[in-house]
Amino acid sequence: MEQTLALPHGLLAWDDLGPHRDALPLVLLHGFPHDRALWTEQVAAHAAAFPGTRLLIPDFPGFGQSTPLASPSMDGYADAIAAMMDASGVPRAVIGGLSMGGYVALAFWRRHAARVKALVLMDTKAAADTEAAKAKRLGLIDAVRREGVGTIVPGLIPAQLGVTTRTASPELVERVTVMLRRAPASGVIGAAGAMMHRIDSTPTLETITVPTLVLVGEEDTLTPVSDALALSSGVSNSRLVIVGGAGHLSPLEQPAVVNAAIAEFLDVAVRG
Ligand code: MLT
Repeated sequence: MEQTLALPHGLLAWDDLGPHRDALPLVLLHGFPHDRALWTEQVAAHAAAFPGTRLLIPDFPGFGQSTPLASPSMDGYADAIAAMMDASGVPRAVIGGLSMGGYVALAFWRRHAARVKALVLMDTKAAADTEAAKAKRLGLIDAVRREGVGTIVPGLIPAQLGVTTRTASPELVERVTVMLRRAPASGVIGAAGAMMHRIDSTPTLETITVPTLVLVGEEDTLTPVSDALALSSGVSNSRLVIVGGAGHLSPLEQPAVVNAAIAEFLDVAVRG
């Protein structure tokens, strides 16, 4: 179940779930500032929703049980995922990522394309940070340094969860609040700086030759539908799914719809 690997910088931790022989490996990469609990609903529905699929669900370095990198970057996170796949005996996998996980999935494609069977890009975008976004990141880093992670959580919730969830699911709002509050300050500061310096992945899109599912919550204000449209129009072999009643964390907010979309994509575009 839980696996760990000692890398030069420290420990990498992940969950390895499902059958190993003849299974299709699906890697799910969380966003910022999450941990592998982001995928709770996909794990819960695993056997029924994704039969014959092996799930590999890591904590990025600096989050959950994984040690921070000395110099965090999207490339460094992507290489940690490649090391996880090596340790798991997985040469190729479907790489899925949400938001920051999507930035890392695109970096993984640039660095390890031969190891990618297909991509699932959820609530994410290709563009780099604007100057305004960079200034916001610096403010967040400063706030976490001075007052800890708890201080940024109330401001993050409205951006992370759609209006439907915030209105109708106080229990889910509480679960997400708990996940964000437990993010280690060092991981948050490192990942915010790494995202601020990430490159523009727009030129990468036309290089993607594997089947790609682009999925976005209709109420996502952080990486809105327009970002998903830019992704899906940039990748030639792609399909777009817009998830009603979901914000930025669509796999948690509307799991049945997201699970069905991923399962159909795996059956038709990847296995088919
Ligand atoms: C995420 O959910 O990973 C973040 O919103 C991404 C970002 O801040 O760019």
